[in-house]
Amino acid sequence: MNKSHADFSRQIQNMFGAIAPKYDFLNRALSCGRDRYWRRKAVDALAPRPGDRCLDIATGTADVALEIASRDPGNIRVVGVDFSSQMLELGSRKVRARNMERSIALQQGMAESLAFANGSFHGIVTAFGIRNFSDREKGLKEMWRVLKSKGRVVILEFSLPANPVLGLLYRLYFERLLPWIGRRVSGHRSAYSYLPRSVGEFPGPREFVLMMKKTGFQDVAYRNLTFGIATVYTGFKYAS
Ligand SMILES: C[S@@+](CC[C@H](N)C(=O)[O-])C[C@H]1O[C@@H](n2cnc3c(N)ncnc32)[C@H](O)[C@@H]1O
Repeated sequence: MNKSHADFSRQIQNMFGAIAPKYDFLNRALSCGRDRYWRRKAVDALAPRPGDRCLDIATGTADVALEIASRDPGNIRVVGVDFSSQMLELGSRKVRARNMERSIALQQGMAESLAFANGSFHGIVTAFGIRNFSDREKGLKEMWRVLKSKGRVVILEFSLPANPVLGLLYRLYFERLLPWIGRRVSGHRSAYSYLPRSVGEFPGPREFVLMMKKTGFQDVAYRNLTFGIATVYTGFKYAS
């Protein structure tokens, strides 16, 4: 990893470590509970089946991992990977509280260099993670590598509504009010200003679809959620 990527990763890792204790609360509050629906939709798109082994990259506090495992407890196994030990610690508590230790394993790791053999997973998901990767191309290549042939990848990410009026109203909220609330509640100076900035810098859906196709994913499609505030991307690995 080059130095600027390593510096960026360290900053992001520290930032999530610092906001971890307030992360879930702010997710629910700032999205008015919508975040749960977005994750459910991402897991619907993943469509895990009994016997599947799934990977949740940038699992954070394990909400997506829990959603996947809860679709067929005991029969679907999930590995959640994240580079923030603080986020993982909170995730582990939730996994224990839901008695899901036999279905979900959480481990520390980097999305850009996954510690799994080629073709290890039937399905891979990352929710609100890829925007933060220091090297998105490498992250996508790693997803491709560890996915089994005929496997499916699902990427959930924030986006901006295409409708100009809605877009303007949303930007007022997202770029003004949300950073203010986030700063006050989390006590972190910049994490909740970084959020709208990083969403603004993330490629639009058509461009991101091209990135996924360039990696090798096929039948790539996307679906807007909640007027385009979030987008769920799906792709398949047919060739091995
Ligand atoms: C916005 S949170 C999303 C967490 C979770 N997926 C969710 O739906 O709430 C982003 C997470 O990605 C992790 N992360 C960001 N970049 C990463 C990377 N390159 N490798 C591993 N984890 C990463 C952060 O530590 C953080 O927990």
